[in-house]
Amino acid sequence: MQASIYKWTEDLSVHIQSIDQQHQRLFELLDNFHKDITNKSSKLIMLGVIKALKDYTIKHFSEEEKLMKLHKYPDFENHKKEHQLFIDKVHEYEERYNSGKLLLTIEVINFIKNWIINHIKETDQKYSSLLIKNGVK
Ligand code: FEO
Repeated sequence: MQASIYKWTEDLSVHIQSIDQQHQRLFELLDNFHKDITNKSSKLIMLGVIKALKDYTIKHFSEEEKLMKLHKYPDFENHKKEHQLFIDKVHEYEERYNSGKLLLTIEVINFIKNWIINHIKETDQKYSSLLIKNGVK
């Protein structure tokens, strides 16, 4: 078994267990994606891993948005916009790869990984205190 390259680390915690667990799952999916790139897996497998990452990201974003809305988080709209831009970008990668216009390389996955890390550190952290104050676990 190959060692994991991408791992969730404690400095990414938003101190809400349910959300930290979802972020951990995102890192597992990113790591699978990375392994399939380095192993030069087949197109069918690559399309499967990118779809799994996209689908889980959509699910996670929608759960986060539900919580932000429920707790009247003031910057909800901007946060949601960031989510949408990212989903659009991953979708575009998926389409371009599928039509042979893009190679899935370490640079592509690094872009995705860096976006997720920056988003968690900068944007997700901002809702943390409000949700914790309102008892979200
Ligand atoms: Fe955890 Fe805003 O994504």
